[in-house]
Amino acid sequence: MRIGRRKGIAMKRISTGLNASRRRFLKHALLGVGTTSAVSLIADDHSSRLRKGDAALLRFAAAAEILESDFWVQYNELGGIQDSEVPGKSGNPTYAAKLQVLDSDFSQYIHDNTDDEITHFTFLNAYLQSKGATPVNLDQFRTLPGSTATGSSGKPRLTNLTQLTLDTSWWTRYRSSANNPDLDPNFVFPQAIPGLATGQFPAIPRNDNDLMPDTHIQAIANTAGFHMATIEQGGSSLYPSMAQRASSVEVLRILISIGPTETMHFQTWSDKAGNAPPLTDPTNGLVFPDLNSAQFDSETFQTNLIMPEPCPFLSRSLPPCSVIRPTETTGAAMGVVKFLTDMGLFIGQSNAFLVFLHELALAADSARRNDRD
Ligand SMILES: [Fe+2]
Repeated sequence: MRIGRRKGIAMKRISTGLNASRRRFLKHALLGVGTTSAVSLIADDHSSRLRKGDAALLRFAAAAEILESDFWVQYNELGGIQDSEVPGKSGNPTYAAKLQVLDSDFSQYIHDNTDDEITHFTFLNAYLQSKGATPVNLDQFRTLPGSTATGSSGKPRLTNLTQLTLDTSWWTRYRSSANNPDLDPNFVFPQAIPGLATGQFPAIPRNDNDLMPDTHIQAIANTAGFHMATIEQGGSSLYPSMAQRASSVEVLRILISIGPTETMHFQTWSDKAGNAPPLTDPTNGLVFPDLNSAQFDSETFQTNLIMPEPCPFLSRSLPPCSVIRPTETTGAAMGVVKFLTDMGLFIGQSNAFLVFLHELALAADSARRNDRD
């Protein structure tokens, strides 16, 4: 009896859906919308449509991935492996050699990280389209000049890698056993490289003049190492933060399947950043300290402590747990926009770009699990 009633409800829903589809067809036919559009509307109704909130979550993720891809391509052109898999050019041997001081496989990792990000936004946009939702396209905002150093394609960019201000407190946040930003929003985690938080520094050579002196181009490579980890820890938090508000299980699956690859990137880059040679850039005074020296508390700064230290999670009445942090979901997308803006990634971008990005973030932050829309 009960099963019958459920079947009845299901049938009624399907029937209502078809009626709505037919009504929409008639409405569009009356409005003079072409046959193709009407047919595609019916096709959309046959595939399960995305809820508004789910589409907004995926659209913000797609935008973030397009932005990531843009600067990863810049890194790849100058410091990555040059092949047909990802856009590149000739590479910059001097810069690449300095990156390889951090790890001999650095160029390969740049290449593969670039490849990953391109597939992320391509997949997310294709999925949105497959569900009849609008994909994200930022091409109109590719206006920044980028590097003119040997090896750069010189094509217009979305992101600026030449005036970065980096918050490297993730270094101590993931080494802290006492504090979690979700439980202690006012706790100040110490910076690994305080100098990077207080000025504007290039992470790529801006032109061939940046290729010397030796310590200057090494400082640029060190900055890149810390920037890469800084970005990827942001992605590691963004995906679980947004996933908590997904309604469809498939959208949840997408978010929790892409997110951990950002974390794989993060841990790789945090290991490489720890190999940045201590130095002072003679051109601007930027200091990379020796984080393994006696002046630093080893538990908080030691460079080979790249596994997350267990920390309080959800409640201090529960035992410590090794987790991604933060994962607070409220305002997560706007938090990422602020994080990217504060690091100087959008210096030189138009107001229209910033407005568009804010709109995407606000829509994503408005998504609610099991919203009815
Ligand atoms: Fe990504």
